[in-house]
Amino acid sequence: MTRSIIEPFKIKVVEPLPWRTVADRERILAAAGYNLFGVRAEDVSFDFLTDSGTTAMSAAQWGAMLTAEEAYAGSRSFYRFEEVVRRITGYHHVIPTHQGRAAEHLLFSQRCQPGQLVPSNNHFDTTRANLEQNGVQAIDLVCPEGKQPTLEHPFKGNVDVPRLEAFLHEHRGHVPFVMTTVTNNTSGGQPVSLENLRAVSALCRRAGVPLLLDACRFAENAWFIKTREADQGHRTAREIAREMFDLADGCLMSAKKDGLVNIGGFIALRDGTWVPELRSGLILTEGFPTYGGLAARDLEALAVGLDEVLDERYLEYRAGSTRYVADALARANIPTVRPAGGHAVYLDARAMLPHIPPEAFPAQALAIELYRAEGIRTCEIGSVMFGRQPDGSFRPAAMELVRIAIPRRVYTQAHFDYVIEGIELAAARGPELRGVAIESEPAFLRHFTARFRPLV
Ligand code: F0G
Repeated sequence: MTRSIIEPFKIKVVEPLPWRTVADRERILAAAGYNLFGVRAEDVSFDFLTDSGTTAMSAAQWGAMLTAEEAYAGSRSFYRFEEVVRRITGYHHVIPTHQGRAAEHLLFSQRCQPGQLVPSNNHFDTTRANLEQNGVQAIDLVCPEGKQPTLEHPFKGNVDVPRLEAFLHEHRGHVPFVMTTVTNNTSGGQPVSLENLRAVSALCRRAGVPLLLDACRFAENAWFIKTREADQGHRTAREIAREMFDLADGCLMSAKKDGLVNIGGFIALRDGTWVPELRSGLILTEGFPTYGGLAARDLEALAVGLDEVLDERYLEYRAGSTRYVADALARANIPTVRPAGGHAVYLDARAMLPHIPPEAFPAQALAIELYRAEGIRTCEIGSVMFGRQPDGSFRPAAMELVRIAIPRRVYTQAHFDYVIEGIELAAARGPELRGVAIESEPAFLRHFTARFRPLV
């Protein structure tokens, strides 16, 4: 049997890969204050800033968009989308939103009270921020293995079940729902096992608290269950995904990931109790319930994407190409969070640049070098993002990571070979890097707009 990883698609439309010289990129970096969020995408050759909304759509999706019925109320495109979500999740009530955080804002502002607590394995940043904005504490209860970057473990996204049990007991009456993020983006795109989800589900049912999935990478999670969990290999990813949804009471979804679309999201719920209130809130902020902040053509693309993402040849290729990058880096002795997650590979900048202290932001220095020398855009997830405390003081982040988030169906295996080589070359120049200082920063979420100065 051949072992090569191949793209399970033919390419029908292409776009030139942007190309700049090192001198161009040095000028671009200086103008952007060494912040990669300030660089134009047309100046980036390989854009790994995020896997969100960066998918290449299929011919079938583009075709479906042309058949969309653009109506304010009752568009057939909505009913088609609703049918697909119901079929995949088993949830009857489907509320479209323009992206994941709009679903978060809608649900939390309607269903949470100040002083409540919502546990998860790890909340994504916008999930946490939307809970906190409603006066709710966002609590992370990921398993201990999920906090050890080099430990090989198949399900590092699992919830710490004994801690969740104690938590639900201690805070009885103050937990409006429990969440679980599949896959767990914050701890490296690590999956949650079916066994863990079953235990979390049983706990929630005993405690009478609903369980909601943050399902934006549900298909990647289902694939990891199929390929890593005992007795699951014979089932289809679709059957496994359905069991994941069956174990919960509803989900929030940023469709910009496993929906294989560039914009979109939804809330889906088994029970209708919350629905009238959510639909009223939706009309106020997003739009009428049969479009929810999207055009009908977006709903058509999403209806097709949700089925395409469960194609096992696609999922095998997706997990295979992420693993391919992580394994090649491991062979070159470049440390990454292990094992490879579904959507991203995380470089361990603290281990790669041990001479740069956290105050000089090693992961930011590495991200800048990858762009300067190789045209590769990544994202710092370290002390720039997390180091500033609410009182303005500095505390080093737990890890200094550079996230290489891989867009779906966009780059080829040849591109990955080039990128791996580029990372190896940048790593070899590591000892010459000195880190960066912050020149200016906003009060909140500084990583998006802070300006830096390279230290010499
Ligand atoms: N939940 C998770 C687990 C996410 O990863 C994201 C977005 C969201 C919710 C919010 O969805 O962007 O559609 O509003 N993650 C992106 C990322 C931005 O780069 O990881 P959104």
